[in-house]
Amino acid sequence: MIPISQVRVSGVQERAVVEVLRSGQLAMGQRTAALEARFQALLGGAHCVAVANGTVGLTLAMVAAGVRRGSEVVTTAFSFIGTIEPVVQLGATPVFVDVEERTGNIDVSRVEAAMSERTAAIVPVHLYGRPAPMADLREVAGRWGVPVIEDACQAMGARHADGTMVGASGIAAFSFYGSKNITCGEGGLVTTTDPELAERVRLLRNHGSVAAYEHQAVGYNGRMTDMQAALLGPEVDRVEAVTRGRRDHARRYEERVDNPAIEKPPWVDADGSCWHQYTVRTRSEGERRQLQSWAEEQGVESRVYYPAALSALPVVRRLGSARTCPTAEHLARTVLSVPVRESLLPEEVERVAAMLERWRPAP
Ligand SMILES: Cc1ncc(COP(=O)(O)O)c(C=O)c1O
Repeated sequence: MIPISQVRVSGVQERAVVEVLRSGQLAMGQRTAALEARFQALLGGAHCVAVANGTVGLTLAMVAAGVRRGSEVVTTAFSFIGTIEPVVQLGATPVFVDVEERTGNIDVSRVEAAMSERTAAIVPVHLYGRPAPMADLREVAGRWGVPVIEDACQAMGARHADGTMVGASGIAAFSFYGSKNITCGEGGLVTTTDPELAERVRLLRNHGSVAAYEHQAVGYNGRMTDMQAALLGPEVDRVEAVTRGRRDHARRYEERVDNPAIEKPPWVDADGSCWHQYTVRTRSEGERRQLQSWAEEQGVESRVYYPAALSALPVVRRLGSARTCPTAEHLARTVLSVPVRESLLPEEVERVAAMLERWRPAP
């Protein structure tokens, strides 16, 4: 079976972790500071704050940007629950906006209608690593005087339409969970070009402390350990290569697969996706089930990200935040992701492509 994600740890990473274990400084040490500097260099000088995971990163970014009890946060209807957990935990309300069918990203033309006097932020997700339309989102946010906080948890290495890296401007939160393009098992990063916001995130990350037991705010424990930082450090230098590898595989699928029963992800050469997932669409839920069985028979792992729209999750319904978002619900019934990771061997890429090309739905 060709796994959809695979974690590989190099000798350099192993040695870096062992060095930390022997150093006596397991958290908030030099490795974390060095990791932040590495990301800062990658992201054109943006302030970078390493945190425990992506969800904590989103939480700290939201608190620092002014999301609080009673706020509304305008966000996408189609994502992982981690996008809205911070909103709900902060006592704010997620207001869901339906998505574009082609990309699965938030439909900007519907954002304005979701805004209100209580809106404290717009939180788009760069779904599957494909950047959401930031220029248009920032325009709406600017009119309402609210920040855009990018859920970039799937988007390390992605580039906006103007060529800048996701995270190099504005406010963004990344995840380095085990399935991500680069990983340290658990980990996260908040990036921003606003130095004051970066300082607030730093403060909140460490119990609001400015010095030992001197608390300027009631904060969080959002710290990254130095073991995580040591594991991730060498991966920062590989971001471009990882992205290129994934894009090459995606290009191969684009060229090789011509199947009327499968809708491929939109291919725009300069779109800047980091191809966290390669996600096709079937014509119906039944055909997706068939495609998944076929993939399994052909030795290819496939996954559904995500089987329900956020806006329709039972837990969201219980909160009273559910909304009807037909496109997100349709995608939840028809999307299927197949392996695209850069570590795929050429013959594995061909097997995935052949599997997609040769599948025929039962009548
Ligand atoms: C879109 C999205 N948001 C938030 C998260 C949460 O990140 P983490 O698992 O690192 O807390 C993830 C990843 O798991 C994600 O894919």
